[in-house]
This record gives sequence, C-alpha cells and structure tokens, in this order.
Amino acid sequence: MITYFDKLDLELEVFMCGIVCAVSNRDISSILLEGLSRLEYRGYDSCGIALFDNKELNRIRSMKRVLDLKKQLIEYQFTGCIGLAHTRWATHGIPSYNNAHPHFSSNESGKPHIALVHNGIIENYEDFRDSLENIGYRFESQTDTEVLVHLLNHLYTGDIFDTVQNVMKLLKGSYAIAVFCSDEPDRIVGARQGAPLVVGVGEGENYLSSDSLAISDKVKEIIYLEDGEIVDLRRHCINVINKDGFLIEKLRHSAVNFVLTSELGKYRHYMQKEIFEQPMAVADTLHGLDSLSMEIFGRGSSKLFKTIDSVLIVACGTSYYAGMTAKYWIESLAKIRVDVEIASEYIYRDSVPNVNSLVLAISQSGETADTLSALKHAKSLGMKNTMSICNVSTSSIVRESLLNYITRAGIEIGVASTKAFITQLTALFLLSISLANSRGLLTNDQEIIFLKDLRHLPSSIGAVLSLEPFIMEWAEYFSSKENVLFLGRGRHYPIALEGALKMKEISYIHAEAYPAGELKHGPLALVTEHMPVVVVAPNDALLEKIKSNMQEVRARGGNLYVFADKYSKILNDSGIKVIHMPECYGILSPILYAIPLQLLSYHTALILGTDIDKPRNLAKSVTVE
Ligand code: G6P
Repeated sequence: MITYFDKLDLELEVFMCGIVCAVSNRDISSILLEGLSRLEYRGYDSCGIALFDNKELNRIRSMKRVLDLKKQLIEYQFTGCIGLAHTRWATHGIPSYNNAHPHFSSNESGKPHIALVHNGIIENYEDFRDSLENIGYRFESQTDTEVLVHLLNHLYTGDIFDTVQNVMKLLKGSYAIAVFCSDEPDRIVGARQGAPLVVGVGEGENYLSSDSLAISDKVKEIIYLEDGEIVDLRRHCINVINKDGFLIEKLRHSAVNFVLTSELGKYRHYMQKEIFEQPMAVADTLHGLDSLSMEIFGRGSSKLFKTIDSVLIVACGTSYYAGMTAKYWIESLAKIRVDVEIASEYIYRDSVPNVNSLVLAISQSGETADTLSALKHAKSLGMKNTMSICNVSTSSIVRESLLNYITRAGIEIGVASTKAFITQLTALFLLSISLANSRGLLTNDQEIIFLKDLRHLPSSIGAVLSLEPFIMEWAEYFSSKENVLFLGRGRHYPIALEGALKMKEISYIHAEAYPAGELKHGPLALVTEHMPVVVVAPNDALLEKIKSNMQEVRARGGNLYVFADKYSKILNDSGIKVIHMPECYGILSPILYAIPLQLLSYHTALILGTDIDKPRNLAKSVTVE
C-alpha cells in the first residue's frame, strides 16, 4: 500500500507529450506501450513507436489510442530490443498521422537512419527547414521535430552522441529528445532542455522517459536529468554530460513503483475519485503541522516573511484561481498587498518590479511552462524572494524557488484539477496566517483557532461530499443547458470562476463567472429563464449584497441554484433552488464551497457522456507556451 507521502517521493513529473524508450536484449515493444498507457491520462492526440530489430527500423503510428498501436504491432509482427515510443499533443502542426512521432530521417538508400521523439518546442526550426529542403530533405509533416531529425541526419558525424551535442548548440526552445541511429544500434541518446527527462536504470536494460511514472515498475533506480544534460544510454552503461560537455556523476534515486491501474476502485472516473480523496489530501497536506513557529515554508522563511512588503502570485488555470483566493486572505489577515498575475500575461508585459516582493508560483505539476517562465522572469527583474506551492517536490518550479510548500494531494490524474486545488487553498491559507504571524498580526488565540479550523477541514470536506445525491438531481437540469452563469462575491468570486472553469472543461457547457456586483454592468443582459445562475452565498459580510444580486436575476426570470449555509436564510422558492452546506465555515469557506461546484460539473458531464478524465483538447500540464 503506497501512502500519500510515498507518492510524493515518487518524484512524478507531469507534461504534455510522453516519451518512453528502452535499450534491452529482449523484445521491449509491449513494455514501451505499457509505459505509454501509463501516461495516457495526460491527454494526447496521436501516438507512435519505432523499433529496431537488428536489421531495420520499423515504425507504427496512430491517431487512435495506444491500444491501436498494440493491435498494429501484432498485425505487423514488429519487435525490437531497442525502441522509442511517444504520445503527441499537437503544438506545431495539426493532430495528424504524418505529424505523429517518431520521426525518421533516411540515408541515401532511402532506409530510415535516424529516429527521433521529442517533447516541447524547437523555436528556431524554421531557420533550418528551407536549407534542409534545398539540399534534398523531403518533409512529410509540419512539425519542428521532423526538421530536427533531418538536421541530426545532415550533421551526423558518425557518432550520434557527439552529433546531438553539436546540434543542441544550434537549438532554441524548451525540449526533451530521444534519438536513435541505425548505424549505432546499441544506444539511445537523450537530451533535456526545459522539458522533463529521466533515465531508468534496469537490470541489463535501461530506459529513458519523460516521466518516471511510465517506467517505475521496470527499473531499480531513476536519474533525473537537468537542463543542458545529454545521456548516452546503453544496455550496460549510462554516461551523462553536463551543459559544458563534462562527464558527470548523477545521483540515483530508488524507483518506487506506483501502479495506476485498478486504482479507480468503486469510482467511475479519476476525477470523481480525486474529489472524494480531498479529505485525505488535505489531511496529508497539513500533516505534522503543530504550530506556525516551524519553518514550514523552508529554511529562512520566517526571516524572509518579515522583510517582504508585497506578494506577487504567478499561476495558470485552476492554480491562478487559488492565487486569487489567497489575495483576499493575505490582504485581510496579513495586511500585505498581493498582485495575482496570469503567468502568460506577466511574462510579456512591462511590469514594475518590486525587489521586496515575495514571488509566489502556484502549480500542481511544477512544470507549467508559463508559470516557470514567469518565475524566471521575476528573478531576472531582480526579485529574488521566490517561493512555490507545488504538488511535485522535484519539479522545475520547486527547483527554481528559494522556498517551497509541497502540497500532498498525491498524483492527480483527471485533467480537471480538483484535489490539487483544494490542497493549494489549504497551503495558501496556511501561508496567509504565517505571514500575519510574522508581522505580529496574529494573537496566540487566533493561531490556535485557525490551526484547529484547518485540522477540522478534512471532516468538513467529508460532510460536504455527502451532498452528492442532491447535486446529482441538479445535474440533470444543467445537462440540458447550453450556458451557465456562476456568481460569487469577495473571496468566493474566485470560487465561482473555478466552478465555471470546471463546468466548461469537462461538460463543454459554456460557463462564465462574475463577481455578483458586476451583474448589472453587462451579464444581466444574458439572463433569461434558459440560463441557470449558480450562486455561492455563504453567510459572510457580503451575504445581503449577494441576496440583492439574486433578486436582480429573479426579476429577469433567471433560475437560481444557490449554495448557502443554514444561517443565510436563503430558502427554496419559486425560481430558487438551494443546497444548504452542513456547516458555517468562516474565513475558510472558499475551500468548502469549491467542492459542490466540482461535483455539479462532474455529474453534469457524466450525464452528457463526455471524456471526463481526458476532456477534448486539454492536457494535464502544459509544458509549452
Ligand atoms: C492545465 C490543466 C489545469 C491546470 C493548469 C495549470 O491547463 O488542465 O487543470 O490548472 O494547467 O497547471 P499547474 O500544473 O501549473 O497547476
């Protein structure tokens, strides 16, 4: 039985495309495909495998699932002791058979000479495409990967390791690659620059993958490559050079096998399972927390928290909404100004850096390209006080940050984030009270009460989850709608945003969220009897305000679906349906109110029959811009 802490130590890395390769003396075709299957949940639009059978290099690609590759392998009877497999999530070029990896470059006799799989983006690929075409290379895809494979072939020195080293000096972008050359059929060369790549050390065989998850059951040890490193992978030896070309000794970590299959248990989808794992995820995230005096955010955090005068949060997607919620908490409790920036916007605008700011990157995966770039960008502007809240302890964002808090949600498989979000909020509340404490704004009694409230969270979440049957009844109605409006106020506005995001991600119903006070400045024009309006209405200082906003909706014939607590005195009425939350949660209520919204989206999507764990066009973590 693997605990949440063990899972944390698995050092999982999450990304979009998947690479699984092996050098062995046995047929590794089914092992590579099993590895790809383990990465399937992250989303992909095509997949492929190349195998060398001591004579020739064969390739199978598919626009269907990995299962289709298995069928084709049997049909064509392809085997091989060395191979490269890949799941692709389109960046350059549409999802198509020809754009699927592995890509080949052939020698003069027309036989495949070099095979390449690739994650990430080669930014300057167009610089090479025309000249390669002019010297006779024929392109069958629109990908940057095919340009790279021809470039490797063109500049091949007779040693593929040296060739990769030379070619890497010419490339711009973020990528991880694995290369095979049929002239040197005992080795695979891998290189990492900005996208994850790990080496798996097996017995008499070795592996290369973009994620240890894919190979953890086949190997004894894992080596994590750093940016600029290149690995020469053979059956009995593994050599790694650093970005300066020097041979280096790499630390080997014990591989922990983590079996994902059969884990669904009684649940129909990972998303549902992960929603119900939230009490445990929060308990694990808070494990061992006795007082705020501990340096839970890393060594030196207490001192650093006293020196900062503002917080700059950078994040994407659901993590961004966690950051927005934190703004309300930090400004109110710690009286520190907070700016929350969408990472992809922050990178490219002229901002005014404040070197006394704490730069906080929030990311489930720790690999989201925009968030990582935003963090690096802030550092380049002189902001050195960096921190991450992240679910993967070995991720790039964690490595890039001075301080860290690792949420212990365990692996999250559903593309739409649920338990990672709830644990991020938990960690962010902890940060808010820690910042307040470091400024002397928290009395001992308040600290005790807040910590008690945090420890009570898992059981409160458990009680909220028991509302599922009532939410299922609502889902029936929502599944027949094309648009949904979500309203919240104050610290519940980001929760409304997250509710709308969940709804669109998995049910494909158009959903928007507004701070309820903004209704009359536009969205009220959309309200009719056909547009359900979901309201997050806890009994807080803004309750009377949101009740007035609800009246504005009712006056236009809109139907309200309200989550409120008992003391809000909001009752079922004509055009108003209410689900009462089991308790009143005070300042922590955003965490609890997010949960029924997750369940509402889940059950709506379930009725609509969408691919809930792998919604169309979305990936679990976006490692390209
Ligand atoms: C993708 C996922 C979202 C996630 C976002 C940020 O869009 O589908 O669920 O919120 O990336 O990911 P991160 O790993 O940085 O939290």
